Amino acid sequence: MAIQRTFSIIKPDATKRNLTGAINAKIEAAGLRIIAQKRIHMTPAQAGHFYAVHKERPFYGELCEFMASEPVVVQVLEGENAIAKYREVMGATDPAEAAAGTIRKDFAVSKGENSVHGSDAPETAAEEIAYFFAGLELVG
Ligand code: PPS
Repeated sequence: MAIQRTFSIIKPDATKRNLTGAINAKIEAAGLRIIAQKRIHMTPAQAGHFYAVHKERPFYGELCEFMASEPVVVQVLEGENAIAKYREVMGATDPAEAAAGTIRKDFAVSKGENSVHGSDAPETAAEEIAYFFAGLELVG
């Protein structure tokens, strides 16, 4: 399997509880390398653009408001099979359904406040990375 890059967000519920380090420890223990990372505070419009794919879903407004409520940490992760591997480390969207030892099982509050986001495919990973990072910020 080739080396891939994926995009990650440590969400407001996690940054607010000082869980960035604990989440990064799980990421690194899984063999993923954090090749870019920064703390930002999104506007509702930026969150709305990022989650535009969900704009018809009933929770869209709540999701955008939540993502703009506190700072987040955006990251680029690199490693073998990074997209699927990170989704495994994250666990299911709903923490009640997440496997033991995953980020969401250990830290998420609810389906909305679920601590992390990870890209779901190579095309979305490339788009999401380009939305938040300039090429020079990625240090592999
Ligand atoms: S998946 O696996 O990403 O397709 O899961 P999905 O259930 O489709 O969720 C997509 C994103 O929406 C968030 N979500 C919610 N936010 C607020 N309230 C409710 N009820 C809710 N349900 C789902 C979920 O955390 C996903 O966010 P990301 O950042 O993409 O993981």
